[in-house]
Amino acid sequence: MKVFVRIVIFSIVLSLCYWGFSNYGIPQVIPEPPPVEEQISGSMTMDQYIALGGKIFNGKGTCTLCHNPVGGRAPLLDTGGKDGPPVGARAADRIKDPGYKGKAKTAEEYIHESEVDPSAFVVAGYGKPGTNDTVSPMPATNKGSIGLSEAEIGAVISYLQKSAGVQVTVKLPTGAAPVAAAPADAEPQSAKTPEEAINKHGCPTCHKIPGIEEGGDIGPDQKGLASRAGKRVKGLSAREYIMQSIVSPDAYTVKGFEPGTMPADLGETMTVKELEMIIKYLMEKTG
Ligand code: HEC
Ligand code: HEC
Repeated sequence: MKVFVRIVIFSIVLSLCYWGFSNYGIPQVIPEPPPVEEQISGSMTMDQYIALGGKIFNGKGTCTLCHNPVGGRAPLLDTGGKDGPPVGARAADRIKDPGYKGKAKTAEEYIHESEVDPSAFVVAGYGKPGTNDTVSPMPATNKGSIGLSEAEIGAVISYLQKSAGVQVTVKLPTGAAPVAAAPADAEPQSAKTPEEAINKHGCPTCHKIPGIEEGGDIGPDQKGLASRAGKRVKGLSAREYIMQSIVSPDAYTVKGFEPGTMPADLGETMTVKELEMIIKYLMEKTG
């Protein structure tokens, strides 16, 4: 009898936990708006191009994952901060720095170079640990999971120049046929595959993930995650721990890593379908 009562109490507690979890832990279903067809074309005005640059900067470019006032892991770009005025304005001084060994001759070229070849010049204090500021932790934004086109990189530069209040030197892309740009908003539509969802939400920017090319090392390598996940937090199964790591990353911080680095709003920016796909992928592929 006693055992029976305990089981009943246990299941009530369990369902209450689940109830709480489903209210606070599971992201809301985001209605999927129709895909935004941003087109970069010759008929675009400069203002539209700059606005698109701002969207890319805050969205698919994933720039604000690192360049934000919270984490302090990268210098601020579209506003001033402890590293000086906005980058549109300080770029001109970077190329005059005695330590500058890159190829840029103008401020515009410097920002371009920073995006496609981040280690050409590493801002003091921000290099990969142990490299004495010779290697940047920033991924090239024209490759891998970010993969911006030249026209998109130009848009971001125009946005950074505009937000610094300096003259916008970037030329509007020309060409008769409109260059189809990928949707510039971060979450226009649910990804179709887990790989797509993982790339869309910028996970490889910070994590190496089995089966996904080019991962960063700002966060833990996900190899072995499925095995260690169930041992991380008492009372959380591997699946629950992985879900918690994604929707409330600050609930538990892996030893040796900075708290507050992982974006805290993934639970709001992901669709439920994407979250499910990502968890399933990590459970099955990380071993
Ligand atoms: C994974 C983190 C990360 C992401 C994502 C990232 N950056 Fe960076 N970025 C850094 C770090 C760290 C530095 C400083 C080290 C260096 O100079 O490379 C930096 C430096 C820069 C600089 C030079 C700043 C200066 O003061 O001279 C520019 C420009 C820049 N990033 C642009 C971008 C843009 C644009 C994006 C998005 C398209 C982006 N970054 C995405 C981490 C990141
Ligand atoms: C800006 C960098 C950054 C991005 C982007 C990022 N993470 Fe993280 N992540 C971290 C850091 C740093 C940690 C370790 C500190 C902590 O536990 O919060 C971490 C921890 C984790 C852990 C726990 C790992 C373990 O060994 O316990 C999981 C799981 C995880 N991240 C999944 C993801 C997924 C999935 C995405 C994409 C949807 C993602 N992360 C995006 C930086 C990032």
